[in-house]
Amino acid sequence: MQTFLLLFGNTSQLSELEFQAQYPHLPLRRLAEQLFSFQSETDLSAEMMQALGGVVKIFVTRQELDNTVSDEAVIEAITALLLEHAEEPYFTISQIGKGQRSINNAAVKALIKENGRQARYFASELHDSALLSHQSKATEILLFNDQERGVVSINQLTAVQDIDDWTKRDREKPYADRKKGMLPPKVARMMVNSAAGIWKQAHPDQSPLLYDPFCGTGTVLAEAAVRGLAVCGSDIDEKAVFGARENLTWLASEYGLQLESSVFYMDAAHVEPAKFPRQVDVLVTEPFLGKQTPRDVELANVFRGLEKMYLGSFKAWSQILADGAIVAIVFPQVTTDRHVYTLDSLIDKLRAKGYNSLVNPILYAREGARVARNIYIFRFQRG
Ligand SMILES: C[S@@+](CC[C@H](N)C(=O)[O-])C[C@H]1O[C@@H](n2cnc3c(N)ncnc32)[C@H](O)[C@@H]1O
Repeated sequence: MQTFLLLFGNTSQLSELEFQAQYPHLPLRRLAEQLFSFQSETDLSAEMMQALGGVVKIFVTRQELDNTVSDEAVIEAITALLLEHAEEPYFTISQIGKGQRSINNAAVKALIKENGRQARYFASELHDSALLSHQSKATEILLFNDQERGVVSINQLTAVQDIDDWTKRDREKPYADRKKGMLPPKVARMMVNSAAGIWKQAHPDQSPLLYDPFCGTGTVLAEAAVRGLAVCGSDIDEKAVFGARENLTWLASEYGLQLESSVFYMDAAHVEPAKFPRQVDVLVTEPFLGKQTPRDVELANVFRGLEKMYLGSFKAWSQILADGAIVAIVFPQVTTDRHVYTLDSLIDKLRAKGYNSLVNPILYAREGARVARNIYIFRFQRG
């Protein structure tokens, strides 16, 4: 059995949900802010990095020492590990956990030299950008002082998020509409993986149809398509319908995907079942969230309008959702000096319509954005 450490991105709660939905047989242990561990017989880190939106780095534990050992003993262990891997190691060491040791890159380099070998290093922190780790090709070592278990673990980076690839899907797609707001691809991927993973646990031998009724530029559809899911989407804006189709065609050619997709014009609150290839198993969406910068005096009205639109849409979706379908959806939230505006009052009304909330909502707020996103997951059960 091997131990692996996961470094999650900023929306750690959503990353955790995504991971547990995709790998329910690998329970997580929380080690520190955004840092978790799990145990596995096999090394799944490359596959996980491909699949998940919320994992930034994965380390494998190479050695555990009793945490009463001296700093020198830890330096020796790191040196031995590095020399095993390379003739002339290029490395970086970071530390996490309370009670840090006076161990640094220079001390390890000095010991490598004493062994008659050359070495180079660069300074880094655990939370430094994945891009740096990706490009540096250095052996990245993380020391974790695990007080609970009384050990210091020496961990080596095994996989890191390919930021260039995420940026490419966000920035290079042919159709974008930044005025309407687009979901960041990583958040879309985490929502897709969470919902599809939860669905899959009840349908292990089947593949779901995923639907986004407010598809906009098609970010959710693209992230689901990359994961090999059959997708369909719709929007009330013809431009978005054409744009999302164009984006999916681009994605298929860039990533060599055989797409099973359809995008059509439809009002989310007036569903036309004939337009769907089959019943929908997983619905993932970021609906219209109101204006991006509403004035305080407008907010009560804006939220009343949104509540009506959301309720109408949920009602309509019961015509096309399969029994047991999973819905992952963004609810808007705006905080003023006096009040927090949410759509939480919908939860009871939705329960009466067969939608049961499965997890506590997860807040995702972009710095400086007036409208924050609250992510909800529901299971739909026909009454
Ligand atoms: C916030 S955007 C979704 C953005 C999308 N997640 C993306 O990343 O591009 C909301 C979308 O909902 C569409 N929309 C608004 N009201 C709608 C309705 N009643 N039915 C269907 N689509 C609607 C808008 O045209 C817009 O494209």
